Amino acid sequence: MNLLILGLQWGDEGKGKAIDSLADGYEVVARYQGGHNAGHTIYHKGKKVVLHLLPSGMLSPDIKNVIAKGVVVNPIQLIKEIENIHSLGLNSDNLFLSANAPVIFPFHQELDTYFEQSRYTKIGTTKRGIGLAYEDLIGRRALFIRDLIDKDTFYKKIKPLNDHYNTLSKAFGGKAIKVDDYFEEYLEAGQYLKKYIVNTTYLLNEYMKNGKKILFEGAQGVLLDINHGTYPFVTSSNPTIGGLFSGTGLSHKVMGEVTGICKAYTTRVGEGSFPSELFGEEAELLREKGNEYGATTGRPRRVGWLDLVALKYAVMINGIDSIYLTKLDIFNDFEEIKLVTDYEIDGKITREFDPYPDVINSVKPVLKSFEGWKQNVSIIKKHEDFPKKAKEYLSFIEEYIGIPITYISVGKNRDETVKK
Ligand code: GDP
Ligand code: IMO
Ligand code: MG
Repeated sequence: MNLLILGLQWGDEGKGKAIDSLADGYEVVARYQGGHNAGHTIYHKGKKVVLHLLPSGMLSPDIKNVIAKGVVVNPIQLIKEIENIHSLGLNSDNLFLSANAPVIFPFHQELDTYFEQSRYTKIGTTKRGIGLAYEDLIGRRALFIRDLIDKDTFYKKIKPLNDHYNTLSKAFGGKAIKVDDYFEEYLEAGQYLKKYIVNTTYLLNEYMKNGKKILFEGAQGVLLDINHGTYPFVTSSNPTIGGLFSGTGLSHKVMGEVTGICKAYTTRVGEGSFPSELFGEEAELLREKGNEYGATTGRPRRVGWLDLVALKYAVMINGIDSIYLTKLDIFNDFEEIKLVTDYEIDGKITREFDPYPDVINSVKPVLKSFEGWKQNVSIIKKHEDFPKKAKEYLSFIEEYIGIPITYISVGKNRDETVKK
């Protein structure tokens, strides 16, 4: 059965670790949305590797890794990551890049920064140009990876887009954007990437037809979804299940199991509402214990308790079958652990998650408290060995959301995972 792994919160749930720990049972790992705003951390032979664009199966030599057409690609970043894989003594022969993936240019990144400074609401983006690249796709003016291969074609297509961004840049008081500043670099990148370029729509459909087991790797998380997340503080793609279909060109028949990843607590980078957010000393403690600093931008992550109202919403809109829960070990020496069970909005109690900003901003979370287990769970290998108090915490979550937690991650390494 194929498996889709997607983040159920605001990203950084531990997708990299989860996918790396499960990848051995699969022949293909495929990314289908987002770009290098993602930062998926894997520990490979004790060394930390953060993948932004490359699928998380890259560290397993026999797995085919596909970057499908829904991913927005900065070719310079992609080459950097491929080179990093080579420096680890691994090869990249099993990488397949969509010819039709939209390209991120330097002006996307520059304008992302101007927009952040001038927009009436600051989003706190990763400043990687992700939103602008997707805007170009929707605006029907995007360039695709294959456009970088032939010099004349590339020049003809980039010129009007460059002019468009030059006009925008001037309007925002920015510098002139010139094709010559990046043309050669991108042309060279096209040549470098040529051997990886394929039609991933046909490749993936062929894999499906031949019964190859595919693991789909979501980026970001449900609450950052452009349609279903906490708009406008979201990313510009669909981390929810629909992104898999639009991003790959595979039909619904590809679906096997859908596993959602969530942390034992919640984090968020950037602006936007966060009903279970902690502040002050409590936040400091959780951030330090959990080492919650962004894998892409290094920004301190905002932290809070696990929010079951939000989690149940994420499970509902994606048809999640089971949960892979990460970072349970962070609570090893906590006296008390809390969960959000209900929202109070205008004096009324509800379990409905309405992402509309005025509603979600007015939420007062209702908390339930659990006694900490005060024991190191990182050494546990079998589910029955978890302390009783940890089991109570996990059972409460399962009962509330109505699906099982089938994997519990108790450390950052591949083997620090307990299967139920
Ligand atoms: P992703 O974007 O969902 O792949 O997550 P990130 O890599 O951005 O952030 C997750 C962080 O938590 C990384 O530093 C992981 O190494 C780490 N991590 C993942 N699972 C666990 C776990 O169960 N315990 C601990 N202590 N760290 C974990
Ligand atoms: P992974 O895959 C956490 C957040 C940014 C910002 C918002 C919009 O590692 O979980 P963007 O640059 O996408 O336009 O920023 O989305 N964001 C993420 N937060 N993890 C991510 O990816 C993220 N990718 C984007 O912080 O709030
Ligand atoms: Mg991340």
